[in-house]
Amino acid sequence: MNLDGSAQDPEKREYSSVCVGREDDIKKSERMTAVVHDREVVIFYHKGEYHAMDIRCYHSGGPLHLGDIEDFDGRPCIVCPWHKYKITLATGEGLYQSINPKDPSAKPKWCSKGVKQRIHTVTVDNGNIYVTLSSEPFKCDSDFYATGDFKVIKSSS
Ligand code: FES
Repeated sequence: MNLDGSAQDPEKREYSSVCVGREDDIKKSERMTAVVHDREVVIFYHKGEYHAMDIRCYHSGGPLHLGDIEDFDGRPCIVCPWHKYKITLATGEGLYQSINPKDPSAKPKWCSKGVKQRIHTVTVDNGNIYVTLSSEPFKCDSDFYATGDFKVIKSSS
């Protein structure tokens, strides 16, 4: 219950931002990991932009902080080290290449499976990096490995 007596919608939790490190450090390492409100995230610094997402890949829980960043269809993606799934840094979409079986000579096309990896917000203030967890109420495939029995870090409560 909230102070006003209304029940809180668990799907609409608001999270406070959490300081995860210094801008100088991530600019050197280009990535860092952090635990934000009991959720493991990875933060990338790529071509002057910050991106944060759930650390475990939506496919089978692979460690995205150990993947390489490559461009596909002009979009920077983290490539999961386990089965090479490609996830856009900016939106968390899973990308795949499709071919037209009726026209095998045509070039494969990059397509999106939609948002699969939950993306979080990064802000910089006074040289400090802050992450605010996404409170978007939709179910994201990566939630499976970030919550419940599958997450690596267990809640103390
Ligand atoms: Fe990431 Fe399979 S666990 S591609």
